[in-house]
Amino acid sequence: MSEDLFPIPADWAAHARMNQAARAADYRRSLDDGDAYWLEQAQRLDWITPPTRASDSSFDEADFGIQWFADGTLNVSANCLDRHLAERGDITAILWEPDDPSDAPRSLTYRELHAEVCRFANVLKDAGARRGDRITIYMPMIPEAAVALLACARIGAIHSVVFGGFSPEALAGRITDCDSSIVVTADEGRRGGKRVPLKANVDAALALDHCTSVRRVLVVRATGGAVAMQPGRDSWYDEAMAGVAPDCPAEVMKAEDPLFLLYTSGSTGKPKGVCHSSGGYLLWASLTHALCFDYRPGDVWWCAADVGWVTGHSYIVYGPLANGATTLMYEGLPSWPTPSRIWEVVDRHQVHTLFTAPTVLRALMKEGDHHVAKTSRASLQLLGSVGEPINPEAWRWYHGVAGEGRCPIIDTWWQTETGHCMVTTLPAVDKMRPGSCGRPLPGVEIEVVDEDGNPVEPGTNGLLTITRPWPGMLATLYGDDERFVETYFSKFGKDRYFVGDYAQLDPDGYLWVIGRADDVVKVSGHRLSTAEVESALVSHHSVAEAAVVGQPDEDTGQAIAAFVTIEDSAADVSRTELVEDLREHVAAKIGKLARPKRIVFTYDLPKTRSGKIMRRILRNLVEDKPLGDTSTLRDPSIVEHIAKKMKES
Ligand code: WT7
Repeated sequence: MSEDLFPIPADWAAHARMNQAARAADYRRSLDDGDAYWLEQAQRLDWITPPTRASDSSFDEADFGIQWFADGTLNVSANCLDRHLAERGDITAILWEPDDPSDAPRSLTYRELHAEVCRFANVLKDAGARRGDRITIYMPMIPEAAVALLACARIGAIHSVVFGGFSPEALAGRITDCDSSIVVTADEGRRGGKRVPLKANVDAALALDHCTSVRRVLVVRATGGAVAMQPGRDSWYDEAMAGVAPDCPAEVMKAEDPLFLLYTSGSTGKPKGVCHSSGGYLLWASLTHALCFDYRPGDVWWCAADVGWVTGHSYIVYGPLANGATTLMYEGLPSWPTPSRIWEVVDRHQVHTLFTAPTVLRALMKEGDHHVAKTSRASLQLLGSVGEPINPEAWRWYHGVAGEGRCPIIDTWWQTETGHCMVTTLPAVDKMRPGSCGRPLPGVEIEVVDEDGNPVEPGTNGLLTITRPWPGMLATLYGDDERFVETYFSKFGKDRYFVGDYAQLDPDGYLWVIGRADDVVKVSGHRLSTAEVESALVSHHSVAEAAVVGQPDEDTGQAIAAFVTIEDSAADVSRTELVEDLREHVAAKIGKLARPKRIVFTYDLPKTRSGKIMRRILRNLVEDKPLGDTSTLRDPSIVEHIAKKMKES
């Protein structure tokens, strides 16, 4: 593998902040003297009461618990705004690039953002929001989305952002699970020249029988499109903002008070409300933004994610703003109106660091290099990747074509649950290896183990685990401590966090993530549970049974493949029609992102004698792998039947 090692570009090496030896020493200290190390790191934040203790966390069976900086108090929005006002008040905090390139960009200085956040915090209070209340945010990528997050943080309310691509039904489930009393949304969103009916989706969600907790809906006028407003429940953001004071004191929050919930998919059909607390999360966001991306004042920073995912929370809003950076927020799609758009945005705003996902790179790579070559990209210094394994071909393209060999690539491995980057090479410090994320960050101790939890030899595949608590880790799953323990701390017991990924460590300690080891599928980097898609499918009147697996896909990494048996009543329905109908049905239940790419109709699914569906066989079929042991199947001939049907699908 050594021929795959990419050296650090010379101009980067020249201004490195640390070398290999210092990185290794720092890492050692973070493990050997964790408390002192993290109390020192904690000084990056502006505490109201500085903590005197770092970790009261333990992965030991006897005193298991997660608590960071327990006696410290702070306010996250004050850390992202107020503390910058004296020296950086007139620096641009948010630079906003609209979907349509002929529309004007917007920008807000730290002073302007502070005033906007204070006002909106007062609007929320007027709407009855109190400390600890859950507020659902269903927004397009406009600066008001960041304002809403920070305003919640200011008053100690817990935000739950739901990605604007989720359907009304999925939105309703997430509102109800955390008993949200307020929804913040916009009339419509814009993406790739199309409008997304956000307010209409909220109305549809709130019209569902089981969705009864919401009292107020605050609506940003983003496009001016016509929407229905329900008197007493719905208010316009701009009208509400005009009637409140421009200052709002920041609530004093304990480090362990929850900052936000973010629903993500797990092995079961019900999304999990991953809960992050204030102090450890913000520290880790700020530290990783500075360390992994080598952020320096003046750099224009662009995380091209959506605020609906954890990447947007940590690297559009909290990390960069805690560091006083200029963060670019882009409303649209990377390849609209042309495949040059992403690079045109880089040039227009003189972006220094771009952080995006492999799925975007694969799509752009396919369009041809001339779309890249006609842009300058001279401002680019660093390129980041996140969300799924990056195939070496896409890595080399990113490095050689997009970055012209000048820019280090960092491939950051992490999860919604970890809060922020956990494993990556550091620019100017570590050599890079296309396809490998690199080494763990300070405080992160990982092990690849076999099914019994025994560490495997380097170069051997196994299950990735994390063996000690880290400051940005999730505190629990909202309202379900039991499921939290069951999901992450039951496979191997309490002494290691179960990640859910297959991976291997190479002899140099570099991590190679292979993919998910559970029933989670990553489609274009979006995390979906096969169980969620299965229950959407079986809720269709024509479907008797469904089994869903991830199928390798050269564009989206993985795609949804569904195996479906149909009710007798649907025997006469045309299969082509049914395929379209089922895809739309899943879109309505979850969102377009969950639509199966392939639907295979079969008379039965591969089942054991006790009736359990053997998804492993379906996975092997879609991956074109040897089927393995099929002797436990009730009807072994079903495999051949399905293989035949797959050829026809
Ligand atoms: C899963 C987490 C990371 C924030 C956004 C996605 C996969 C993530 C990488 C990477 C290989 C990766 C893992 C992980 N993943 N980053 N650099 N290389 N795989 O967060 O939706 O919670 O998904 O994404 O499988 O477990 P998420």
